[in-house]
Parts: sequence; structure tokens; C-alpha cells
Amino acid sequence: MRLHSLSLIDFPLIHQAFRLAFSDYLLPMQMDEEQLAAMLHRRGWRPELSIGAWRDGALVGLWLAGVHCDEAGPIGYCVATGVTPDARRQGLLQAMAAAVSRRLASRGIQRQQLEVISDNAAAMAAYLKLGFRPRRRLDCYRIEHALAVDAAPGWRCEAADRSQWPRWPLHSEPAVPNSRDSLERARPPLLLMTAKQNGDLLGYALYSAAGDVAELAVAPPHRRRGVARSLLAAVQRDTAAPALAISNLDADDDAGAGLLRSCGARLWLSQWEMRRP
Ligand SMILES: CC(C)(COP(=O)(O)OP(=O)(O)OC[C@H]1O[C@@H](n2cnc3c(N)ncnc32)[C@H](O)[C@@H]1OP(=O)(O)O)[C@@H](O)C(=O)NCCC(=O)NCCS
Repeated sequence: MRLHSLSLIDFPLIHQAFRLAFSDYLLPMQMDEEQLAAMLHRRGWRPELSIGAWRDGALVGLWLAGVHCDEAGPIGYCVATGVTPDARRQGLLQAMAAAVSRRLASRGIQRQQLEVISDNAAAMAAYLKLGFRPRRRLDCYRIEHALAVDAAPGWRCEAADRSQWPRWPLHSEPAVPNSRDSLERARPPLLLMTAKQNGDLLGYALYSAAGDVAELAVAPPHRRRGVARSLLAAVQRDTAAPALAISNLDADDDAGAGLLRSCGARLWLSQWEMRRP
């Protein structure tokens, strides 16, 4: 086995190894090259910090790393890891983790963070063995039916230019895939829906054309009046996506969970955000 940085590796090779490593994953991950590149770009992938594992000339393992900044400074972020099925349980993940840690440490970065699907027993066991510990649970919901809303609620939901994204304080620190840096990098750019009453901004939703709601916020004086629900309904109308997805809601966010329950959303997946040390 040979380990090497991914900085000079052709992207089609990385894409091919990624597809193979995720061929039996819990979720469909069969993205084409362009989709994988967009996902990695959005999450701040840094090829020079990432490690590949080669066996008999074939790329069989990937640790795709980036750097995220939180209140305490830079932190290594694991965008994804994967080992092709025939190369598993041979210590590749552990070897790649050690190499990535050295690369991060040489840049003064000791802390690392990642998310793992709570049902992914293999990855969970591997990350625990590497010293990662669960920090908080992140819940992912789907709304799969058309939301019924008051036709004349007293405010208007309308699409607005994304440059007007208000970036209000949120209930909790967003997970890295929902961090504002990640949302800024989204390609194509995310869309903005606003709820306004007599020119006052009551709330907003930031979302993709595929129906992923990345950020939803209502100003404190206007909460518990149905503004968030009508924003979600407006996003449904605007995107015509078969389902709305609200991902990585902090499990402590009672208001968010209450809203989604009242909208009949289905909790379809939970992840653990894990940190080391
Ligand atoms: C998770 C994954 C990357 C592990 O890669 P790997 O190279 O097989 O891992 P390692 O051989 O380095 O294993 C390190 C330790 O992790 C744990 N582990 C790994 N796979 C495991 C499994 N299937 N069941 C239980 N524990 C497991 C063990 O403690 C193992 O040490 P041991 O073999 O000495 O007992 C691999 O299973 C994979 O690619 N899965 C599909 C993609 C995926 O889920 N990626 C993670 C996304 S967050």
C-alpha cells in the first residue's frame, strides 16, 4: 500500500475511486464527476491536505479533507472517507487518518471534525477508534406532501435576490455543510425566499432548486404565527421539487423540530457530528 497526497491526481481517478468506495453506501452516492466536484467545492475540499491509498497501482482509499473555521480557529474537516470494498479492514482508513493528521499538524491544526450517519456502524467504529467523539446529533427531515397554508396570512412570500441574504443569528452553530462559507460556495448559487409585511422582513429561507432548505429563520417578534411554514410552502411552489429536505438540524433545536413535526416532516436520517480531540 502506498499513501500520497491527492493534489496532483486527475479528478476522474478520484471520482472513479469515490464511486467504488461508496457503491454499497447507505445512501445513493452515484454522482457524476461534475456533481462530485460541486459537492467537494461546497464543503471546502483541499486536495493538498487529502490522502489517497494505492494498492497494485489502483487508487483504493480516499480521505478527502478541508479546513473549516469556527469560533476557536481553523479545524480540519473530513469531507468524506471511503475505501473500496475489496480493500477494507486492512487498516487503510487508519493509515490515511495518520497521514492527514500530519499534514494538518504541519499547518498548526490539531483539531478535526466530521459527520457520520448514525446507522453507519463501520464508519462509526472506525472513527471512534481514531479518537473522534460524538459532539452533537444532527437530524435530517423531509417534507413529501404539499403544505397547506393560509391563503392570505397578512404577509407575502416572494423570491428575492440572494445578495439580500440577511444572515440572521441562528439557534445553533450550523454544521459544516450548512455553514455560511459552504452555502456561499454552492454552485449553482442558492436561492432566497423572503416573507415581508408592509416592507418589514419577517423571515427568510435559503434553498436550492432541488428543494434543499439550507437556512430558515424568522425574526423573534414574528415567531409562532406560521411564517416559517408559509416560507416552506413558498419554496415548494417555487421549486416544484418532489420533496423538501431540511438537513443537519441540531437535535437541541426544539423550535425547529416542532416546526417540522407540525409540517408533517419525516425524520429520515440522523448524523453524529464528531470531533477529535
Ligand atoms: C468506513 C470505511 C472507510 C473504513 O475503512 P477501512 O479501511 O476498512 O478501515 P480500517 O481497516 O482502517 O479499520 C479501522 C478500524 O475501524 C473499525 N471498523 C472498520 N470497519 C468496520 C466494520 N465493518 N465493522 C466494525 N468495525 C469496523 C475497526 O475498529 C477497525 O479496526 P480493526 O480492523 O483493527 O478491528 C469503509 O468501511 C468504507 O469505505 N465504507 C463505505 C464508505 C463510508 O461509509 N465512508 C464513511 C462516510 S462518513
